[in-house]
Amino acid sequence: MSLLKPLRRLYIKSTDLTRSYQGRDTKLVAFYKVWSRCYDFSIGLDPAYRRELKRMIASVVRSGDTSLDIGCGTGISTLLASKIAEHVTGVDLSADMLRKLERKIRRRGVDNVATICGRFPEALPEGVSFDSIISSFAIVHFTPEQRKTLYQRIHGLLVRHGRLGLFSARGEIAASFETREEVVRNLELAGFNGIHIEDVSDIYRIVTAEKP
Ligand SMILES: C[S@@+](CC[C@H](N)C(=O)[O-])C[C@H]1O[C@@H](n2cnc3c(N)ncnc32)[C@H](O)[C@@H]1O
Repeated sequence: MSLLKPLRRLYIKSTDLTRSYQGRDTKLVAFYKVWSRCYDFSIGLDPAYRRELKRMIASVVRSGDTSLDIGCGTGISTLLASKIAEHVTGVDLSADMLRKLERKIRRRGVDNVATICGRFPEALPEGVSFDSIISSFAIVHFTPEQRKTLYQRIHGLLVRHGRLGLFSARGEIAASFETREEVVRNLELAGFNGIHIEDVSDIYRIVTAEKP
């Protein structure tokens, strides 16, 4: 167990290396083309990632929900959500990351997940809405400036009393992530209520909020 703490820190620091890619889609796509090959393996090195992510999902996704997973990647979060929700849409910029998810969908015979390859929020069809929206380690790829309007777009995609769940690392530890202050400010500005922040397993952060 003692090896896990430095490994977690290392992982977060490596995420900080992509700070200059924030909001730069071409760079992100190229980065995830390479990273997709060992993404699931590297995430699997820390059991706390999946455990805490699962806890976040269980607290916001409900049976019967139509859910959205922003920056779904290889689908770790999407597939966890698909076990609870009626239907989950995963959107991601990276075709390479999505290919991994699509392979899992086929192999496991999952029939309630759809994928959209493209940039959030522009890639979503007009007029869609969701009961719950989750996002794990993807908001970090938006610039601090973009995040201010991002939460407003998310708010607009939720139904009344819709729930938002975020899983990420803490900006107080690695600068590319949001600090507590930043995430609360952005969520309040977007009109969210019931903002709850929980710091877990050394470096991770779970944020939940509701649309009034
Ligand atoms: C660190 S991965 C997280 C994947 C997954 N959510 C997880 O927790 O394992 C971040 C993902 O966000 C995606 N991403 C970054 N910016 C995006 C955007 N504007 N729209 C859609 N996807 C985006 C990347 O392509 C990448 O697959």
